[in-house]
Amino acid sequence: MEGGEALVPFIRRYPLVLSRGEGVRVFDERGRAYWDFLAGIGVTSLGHNHPLVKAAIAEAIPLLHTSNLYWNRPAMELAGALAKISGTWQVFFANSGTEANEAAIKFIRRHTLASNRHCILSMQGGFHGRTLGSLAMTPNPKYQDPFRPLPEGFAAVAYDDVPALEAALRSLSPAAVMVEAIQGEAGVIVPRRGYLRAVADLCRRYGALLAVDAVQTGMGRTGTWFGFEDDEITPDLVTLAKGLGAGVPIGAVLARPQVVAAMQPGEHASTFGGNPLATRVGLAVVQWLQGEGLTHVRRVAAQLENSLLELMARHQSKVRAVRGRGLMWAIVLNMPSAPVVERLLGQGLLVNAIAPDVIRLLPPLVVDEPAIDAAVAILDDVLAGETAG
Ligand SMILES: Cc1ncc(COP(=O)(O)O)c(C=O)c1O
Repeated sequence: MEGGEALVPFIRRYPLVLSRGEGVRVFDERGRAYWDFLAGIGVTSLGHNHPLVKAAIAEAIPLLHTSNLYWNRPAMELAGALAKISGTWQVFFANSGTEANEAAIKFIRRHTLASNRHCILSMQGGFHGRTLGSLAMTPNPKYQDPFRPLPEGFAAVAYDDVPALEAALRSLSPAAVMVEAIQGEAGVIVPRRGYLRAVADLCRRYGALLAVDAVQTGMGRTGTWFGFEDDEITPDLVTLAKGLGAGVPIGAVLARPQVVAAMQPGEHASTFGGNPLATRVGLAVVQWLQGEGLTHVRRVAAQLENSLLELMARHQSKVRAVRGRGLMWAIVLNMPSAPVVERLLGQGLLVNAIAPDVIRLLPPLVVDEPAIDAAVAILDDVLAGETAG
């Protein structure tokens, strides 16, 4: 792309320069409009240019940064709000999903240091970030192999496989289990009902902490706060990022106070973590979800689910399955997904090819009925023009 030569070239980008957004729409430099059904990979939870986000940023302008040597009200209030939602947690702020997971790893290690149990067991197919600790919990050769050696003390077990988990807990005695409520980067893999409940029960039985990575599923994405409430579990740690900041970088670890009690001042910190700008916007997201947000997500999620099931019925030879929850969906095709995603982009719909045959939809949480109808009409049109594989 002309003008982009100075950016490191290892990220494959679509050939368009996005310059502004409004709600569920984004516009490129030439003024062409697109339905944004990816939301910056699940980040712009309130869509673009939302009045609450604009007001939060305006309020934050007089004091953008303080460092963590001083208190600031937005951080205290956002931590308080998140803690109240759970009733039991304390909060550490970072700046991204991978940093939240790095902090969680350190909290787990610190908590279990004396016990000599430090292995963290994560799930095959899981994704936790690209810094070395999070990468060590992301058991995928594509991401791990070019960067070996990785930190020690990590192991993996099959996702959605309770007997395999029990065998691993018995043989490895891990300090903690790290799991996603729905595996996002693996292609929106929804485990069987009751899986998280079984994981939580097993963790308790075998004395392992339970950590849930809610970076993608959290902050209303699946129709609940964190994506695991239907399973009625209370994890020991929860990591958040993406939608919490509605486009402003933020990450967070929610942890049971007993889990972080061993941490001493100075053992972990982040210069930017918990800055007034990001936490003020995070508060706006929490307030929106507490107000109309979660109800809105559940209502439009039902429409999206029905529309995708109907789409599948109309294109049976091309669509093998649709799966997801809330506003996190995958369309499994009988053909390669990348060219279909390019044609959708050509028709004004932004989604991504998350696996060779899978398209992922992560619309902003503020998505409404007309936007869903418009996106599904484009999907219909493009699928009608494809030849079944
Ligand atoms: C479940 C999950 N955890 C962690 C991450 C890493 O987040 P970040 O890219 O903000 O570091 C991602 C990113 O996609 C994710 O989906």
